[in-house]
Amino acid sequence: MFDDPSQYTTEDKLRARITLHARFSTAELPWYDWMTRLVNLAESESVLEIGCGPGDLWDSMAPPGGTTILLDSSRVMISTAARRTGLPSLVADAASIPLADTCFDVVIANHMLYHLSDPGEGIAEAARLLRESGRFITATNGPGHMQELDKLTGEPPILPGFNLDNGAALLGRHFGTVTLHRFSDGLRVTDPDIALQYLASYRRLSPADVISIRAALAETIERLGHYRVTKSMGAFVCRNPIQ
Ligand SMILES: C[S@@+](CC[C@H](N)C(=O)[O-])C[C@H]1O[C@@H](n2cnc3c(N)ncnc32)[C@H](O)[C@@H]1O
Repeated sequence: MFDDPSQYTTEDKLRARITLHARFSTAELPWYDWMTRLVNLAESESVLEIGCGPGDLWDSMAPPGGTTILLDSSRVMISTAARRTGLPSLVADAASIPLADTCFDVVIANHMLYHLSDPGEGIAEAARLLRESGRFITATNGPGHMQELDKLTGEPPILPGFNLDNGAALLGRHFGTVTLHRFSDGLRVTDPDIALQYLASYRRLSPADVISIRAALAETIERLGHYRVTKSMGAFVCRNPIQ
């Protein structure tokens, strides 16, 4: 059943988002498996994940032989990630990371740069931390992402400050080569409560909103077998860091 959104912790909100995608995605390859292929870690590499959340990426990705560090500004996320992965972890702000220059082969920032008031600060930190031969992989969403769910709220869609449209220009200030890889996916939602939990993780929903959105979802699911949602997701692979 749909829980009371006023009781949601930050971790509950993130879990609600991950659950919707994990349950109803139509992609051939799950998102974290797709990211793992894209990152393509070599055995000897060292890696830093910025904004690791509860560490879900590491269910798919095997840590390489070099140093692996998980970083997040949330203590709760870091303690969950450390418990789940057993990897070294650090509570820090992505805009000011207390680690030495040029010490990683790979830096990952998966769906997190848009949380920064200035995503450029996080990008500059990633470039500073990478060796000359290193790469930065950063995932985000684009225009139209989840538009059919947003439409149910009657509010305009929210385009994050760092997105698939403006990302290459922002990253190009700190990297000589930036390539966008799009993830082909959508949702076929069959449980209105999971969609409502997702919406409540970033929208304020009144009790009346919950009733009307649930009814709209249930009506479409009854008629078509599912409620179809567009996704626009992808990741930039950035090389040649400009220090
Ligand atoms: C949407 S979650 C993504 C989690 C994980 N990367 C994933 O994709 O499963 C964003 C994460 O960024 C973290 N975060 C937000 N602002 C941050 C900052 N300034 N520095 C470091 N982490 C931050 C949040 O605590 C949260 O864990």
